[in-house]
Amino acid sequence: MKIDKELRGNIQTFIKNLTNAEDDEIKEYISEIVSDRKLENSLAKKSNFGDGEKPFSYKIAVDVASRLALYVLCRTKKPDVVVETGVASGTSSSYILRALDKNDRGTLYSIDVPWYTVTQNWKGAFVDGVKTNPIEMQSGWIIPDYLRDRWDLTMGLTSEKLPALLKKTGKVDVFFHDSEHSYENMAREFKTIWPGLRKKGVMLVHNVEKTPAFAEFEQKVGGESFKLSGLNNDFKIMTIGGKAKG
Ligand SMILES: C[S@@+](CC[C@H](N)C(=O)[O-])C[C@H]1O[C@@H](n2cnc3c(N)ncnc32)[C@H](O)[C@@H]1O
Repeated sequence: MKIDKELRGNIQTFIKNLTNAEDDEIKEYISEIVSDRKLENSLAKKSNFGDGEKPFSYKIAVDVASRLALYVLCRTKKPDVVVETGVASGTSSSYILRALDKNDRGTLYSIDVPWYTVTQNWKGAFVDGVKTNPIEMQSGWIIPDYLRDRWDLTMGLTSEKLPALLKKTGKVDVFFHDSEHSYENMAREFKTIWPGLRKKGVMLVHNVEKTPAFAEFEQKVGGESFKLSGLNNDFKIMTIGGKAKG
């Protein structure tokens, strides 16, 4: 994967702000993931549908900046417990799992309802319908087989499943929100996760720009927060917010 100097610098600053890790260590992990042919090839193989159109859940995967930030954060922090909400194809999950694989420690606990199921309920949001593909039913279909041993998937809504999951995991080192970006759901997930986050644990929030939930949460708990922007598959700017627990 090729990334420009500016993005490299932005990821470096973002991770430094969140972890206070040494510059050389962060640089090393950025170089490691952008030259990771094993992961790149496995993802390309899993998402090769010949001439067929890629499933919708592939198109809504996190942007490259977020993928790299998740990887580098998990390499830097060496977490035992990572919790993620919103799996879809499993692109973000794959980058987190590859970091845990390299660390040789930790588990990723993810919660998801299949994208296909969600869109069936959003009548009117997709007037032409969303192309159905059996693969949409399988949350995390893109995750390479060699990374699955460290993955624990819970199916269901985060409003119902997150509290019980936190009882099972104990303290969380890294949390990543990428499920439904409604104000209500974002605010509820932040409120639920924050007490369960370990001291110096890090919360990352995809699409912070969608609602005021992250900004309000920052104000409420105090301390600094940081942002990293990248382009998604449609060349729209997406912003990921990050906050470390003091
Ligand atoms: C933007 S996609 C996640 C993309 C994924 N992080 C990636 O990089 O490929 C959002 C996912 O969250 C799921 N989802 C939406 N609302 C949810 C909720 N309330 N609880 C659990 N999952 C939800 C959707 O069905 C979809 O699979």
